[in-house]
Amino acid sequence: MLQVRMLAVLAAAGLMVSGCAREAAPPAASGGGSGTVIGGLGKSIHPFWDQVEKGMRDAAEPQGIQVEFYVPTKEDARKQAEKIKSWVAVGVSGILFAASDPETVGPAIKDATARNIPCVAMDTDAPDSGRLAYVGTDNYEAGKVAARVLGDLLKGKGKVCIATGSLTASNSLERIRGFKEVLAKDYPGITVLPEILVDNEDRAVAEQKAKAKIAAEPDLAAFFGVYALNGPACANAVKSAGKQGKIRVVCFDTTAEHMNMLKSGMIDAAVGQRPYLMGKKGLELLALVIKKGPEDALRETGAKDGSVDTGVDVVRRQDVEAYRARLKELGIPVEGW
Ligand code: BGC
Repeated sequence: MLQVRMLAVLAAAGLMVSGCAREAAPPAASGGGSGTVIGGLGKSIHPFWDQVEKGMRDAAEPQGIQVEFYVPTKEDARKQAEKIKSWVAVGVSGILFAASDPETVGPAIKDATARNIPCVAMDTDAPDSGRLAYVGTDNYEAGKVAARVLGDLLKGKGKVCIATGSLTASNSLERIRGFKEVLAKDYPGITVLPEILVDNEDRAVAEQKAKAKIAAEPDLAAFFGVYALNGPACANAVKSAGKQGKIRVVCFDTTAEHMNMLKSGMIDAAVGQRPYLMGKKGLELLALVIKKGPEDALRETGAKDGSVDTGVDVVRRQDVEAYRARLKELGIPVEGW
């Protein structure tokens, strides 16, 4: 009944957007616990975002908090902004968001904050939006880590192509910045191709662009896959060109697909983020803000300086079992590999 009411409010406000929303939620009451609804906003349909959602739900359930999770099909900052507006219209208690483009999403976050709806950025920061805090990877540092792994793998020589899902989201830009800086400084024998392949988080486009690049650059030595969809897309393109072992693949993320490709040698190394913890810690932070106010919440969660670093792990074929143990230790569920 309440769900029906909320959907009716959204429809009346013309705010229903396409994409993937799981569980419409009733209007929120403040104060935490029953009646508290937190909106989770991801960037595209991908198993990476399923893990974020699971982290949010696992943290929410024991506290009696409801989660409404939404992702557009692929990168779409306008739909993200519309979704935030619809959440503001029904009065959710808090928003955990990942902006595909901070310029487009930022004003909606500012407006939510002005209406006393606490907003926390996850996965990709949007510091100018007025968000309370950021929970996720230190993307600049993680980009540097990827560069060192790739630089060593190539023994300091060869041509590298960067492939990403976005040139507006800050996580992608920061990874690329860190990656290029380290290669320029410590691996002068490596050339980064000037053209970055951009797919707007569309897997088919990612694969097709990687294939075209392999055909255009016969001496390509490696791909750097910036987003979760890029590593597998590049690895498939390399395989179908019969160049496995000749073109190396270093990428971000460790979904089941990445792990299986690492095991079979299609991906050489992955920088594993912790999307489950982004969802879990992001939700815990928002729940505390709702209960105790921002100052106490930021202090208690160690986010005093405005960010919670969820950390990364480097995983190569030989590290797979140690990585499984590491995830267990961190309380992160492992599925499908
Ligand atoms: C990024 C996300 C992105 C996901 C799926 C991850 O590496 O952190 O921002 O949406 O990949 O492509």
